[in-house]
Amino acid sequence: MAQEDVFKKIVSHCKEYGFVFPSSEIYDGLGAVYDYAQNGVELKNNIKQYWWQSMVLLHDNIVGIDSAIFMHPTVWKASGHVDAFNDPLIDNRDSKKRYRADVLIEDAIAKYEEKIAKEIAKAQKKFGDSFDEAQFRATNARVLENQQKRDALHERFAAAMNASDLDELKQIILDEEIVCPISGTRNWTDVRQFNLMFKTEVGSTAEGSSTIYLRPETAQGIFVNYLNVQKTGRMKIPFGIAQIGKAFRNEIVARQFIFRMREFEQMEMQFFVKPGTELEWFEQWKNTRMAWHQALGFGAENYRFHDHEKLAHYANAASDVEFRMPFGFKEVEGIHSRTNFDLSQHAKYSGKKIEYFDPELNERYTPYVIETSIGVDRMFLSVMCHSYQEEALENGETRVVLKLPAALAPTKLAVMPLVKKDGLPEKAREIIDDLKFHFNCKYDEKDSIGKRYRRQDAVGTPFCVTVDHDTLTDGCVTLRDRDTMEQTRVKISDLRSLIEDKVSITSLLKKIK
Ligand code: GAP
Repeated sequence: MAQEDVFKKIVSHCKEYGFVFPSSEIYDGLGAVYDYAQNGVELKNNIKQYWWQSMVLLHDNIVGIDSAIFMHPTVWKASGHVDAFNDPLIDNRDSKKRYRADVLIEDAIAKYEEKIAKEIAKAQKKFGDSFDEAQFRATNARVLENQQKRDALHERFAAAMNASDLDELKQIILDEEIVCPISGTRNWTDVRQFNLMFKTEVGSTAEGSSTIYLRPETAQGIFVNYLNVQKTGRMKIPFGIAQIGKAFRNEIVARQFIFRMREFEQMEMQFFVKPGTELEWFEQWKNTRMAWHQALGFGAENYRFHDHEKLAHYANAASDVEFRMPFGFKEVEGIHSRTNFDLSQHAKYSGKKIEYFDPELNERYTPYVIETSIGVDRMFLSVMCHSYQEEALENGETRVVLKLPAALAPTKLAVMPLVKKDGLPEKAREIIDDLKFHFNCKYDEKDSIGKRYRRQDAVGTPFCVTVDHDTLTDGCVTLRDRDTMEQTRVKISDLRSLIEDKVSITSLLKKIK
């Protein structure tokens, strides 16, 4: 099945099985805004818990905060977001559609890469086991030509982005003969900068209102609280502050479902270090974060780092953790060495001294910062994309199963009476009443057992138990495993110990290498 079709199926699965709904759907939705449904919110909460605990539980030098979304407007002047948090946009005069100029050029670069990949796939098929990819890349004329075009375009693009040269971006679009996907024409406007922050007013007009912004990142809430936390928590450098919260960006191009939203959630941690040690910490955090991702068991081959060529205005090193989505390797998390830019800027704009007194060195300095910043929604999407599977069964049927890591699954155990009578529902509820204090259980009595199993497979429930007539006399139930579909007879009194460890966040945390 084409990857595009797989992605479409995942999107509709999210809606059909109560994971993600379009926002305000009865009014035809709102672009790039989504609501998490009954199963989605559980999965999302589990992802957040996994991240939170990996930060504040596993590190005794990391604490959490929850700062307000609204902040003093000068915060965004100091951070550089008012002046520099822009995307270059371009309009097509015929279709009246608006695009990100950088994305149009990146797509053009990707087309050269696709052409190269196609040549390689063709040759691989032709030559089979004797195929030597490195040699083919170095000698095939068509591959060499496309590689040379790709590299030249990439170099020109990176230079234009680094210099924020909008005329050059437009010239690249014209030279590459990039057309609007809707109108098919090259009738482009000039490229302009577009600030991504949402503005609103605080206070009524009568008492004088002022413009404030919806935060485009949660990080600034940490920076402005650095002194408060350091002093009240008596934190010693190196130490970190973690936060999970909403962020807002007026994205020009909203694409790929919850991958790029206008309202989304971030899990960010700012780690304050001694100046000069930041690049060592940067490497360390890259490894720690990659280990966190890989503990989910999705396969190391599905992750890669992508080092930034164009650094944000605050960074001296930056790398993304990319995950293989059905639409290619995409950024899920950013790890940034933010220097002392933010703290220095806030010191300058607020007039307050924001420093650290290092008792070992007996000196004051402005700490440097390593940031790890991951989007909850992108993480959610990567988990869904990897877990969604269509399996051909021996009886010729196909089952749709979400092979979610058990610790992230919305429901851990579904308890099902074989029939809706003879005291079996009461027994099933008794089991739930006992286990619900330890993990999320659901009761399900509608339809045949087979259909109920399928329903639980589709929402990723790792375990089901069936209560039958024998249960009433032998105190045993049938425990079914989602992935293997194996069924075993177990004692009710053993259920908790059999399941709890496998579905706990702790079990996942222990897998982080
Ligand atoms: N504080 C640094 C910062 O915000 P970023 O690379 O702009 O860095 C960090 O964002 C992460 O936030 C991204 O890796 C992505 O997972 C998530 N993110 C950013 N914009 C997003 C959007 N429009 N929709 C969903 N997630 C987004």
